[in-house]
Amino acid sequence: MHSNHLQGELLYTGKTKQVFSYDNPELIVIHYKDDALAYNGIKRAQITNKGVINNKISANIYQRLEALGFNTHFVKMLNDREQLCKRKVHLIQIEFIVRNIAAGSMAKRLGLKIGTQLKTPVYELCYKNDELGDPIINAHHAVALGLSTYEELDEVHEIVKRLNKELINIFNGIGVTLVDAKFEFGRTADGTLVLSDEISPDTTRLWDTATLESLDRDRFRKDLGKISEAYTEIFNRLTDN
Ligand code: C5P
Repeated sequence: MHSNHLQGELLYTGKTKQVFSYDNPELIVIHYKDDALAYNGIKRAQITNKGVINNKISANIYQRLEALGFNTHFVKMLNDREQLCKRKVHLIQIEFIVRNIAAGSMAKRLGLKIGTQLKTPVYELCYKNDELGDPIINAHHAVALGLSTYEELDEVHEIVKRLNKELINIFNGIGVTLVDAKFEFGRTADGTLVLSDEISPDTTRLWDTATLESLDRDRFRKDLGKISEAYTEIFNRLTDN
C-alpha cells in the first residue's frame, strides 16, 4: 500500500502534533510540529527542528518499551517528522504523571525545594481539559466524572509503575536522571490498552546526572536557551547506546 499520508485526511490538529488518517483505518499518522508551548499555552514559540528530534526520540523510546513487552500505539517511524501509530477508538482523558524528584507544579504546590529526592515515586492524575488548565484530580474524581473506572485506573497504575522503573533504567544508562514524566493511554478497536502520545523532553523532566542541567522543556519554560541542543543531546545519547 501507498504510505504517503498526504493522501490521508487531517483528523486532528493538536498543540504540538497533527494526526492524519492512513490507508489502513486501524492506523494513523502522527506528524510532529516545531511548536513549543508552556504554562497551558500562554507561552509559545517555534523551535527549529524540535518536531524532528522529538519524533526520533519518542520512536527510540517506544521501540525500547515495545521490546520490554509494553503495549503501545507505536508501529514505526515513517520519516523525519512522522510516525505510524495504532488508532485509538478511545483516549482516556487523564494525564498520568509520575515523579521521582520534586520539580515543577509539585515543588510549587507543596513548597518543596526543586531537586528534593522523593521517598517514594508520586503518582498524580490530571484531568485533560485545556480550559481548566489540566487540573490535578484523584481516582474518585476520575470515576465520578466518567473518565475511567477503578479497574482501569488500577491497570494503568501498574503499567505506569513499570514504565517509571524501565525509563529510569534507560535514562540512567545515558547519564540522565528521570525527574518526572507524563503518560497517556487509550484503547484500540480490539479493546487493548495502549500507551499513547509522545515520550520526549517535552513530556518528561530529564536532568544531566553529572551537572543537574535540564535537558527538557524546562529550558523553554524558564528561558534557559539551547533548547534544540539539549533535545539533540538526549537523542544522541539514546542512539549511542
Ligand atoms: O508541570 P508539572 O510539574 O505538573 O509537570 C510534570 C511532568 O508532566 C513534566 O515532565 C511535564 O513536562 C509533564 N507534563 C506534560 N504535559 C502537561 C503537563 C505536564 O507533558 N500538560
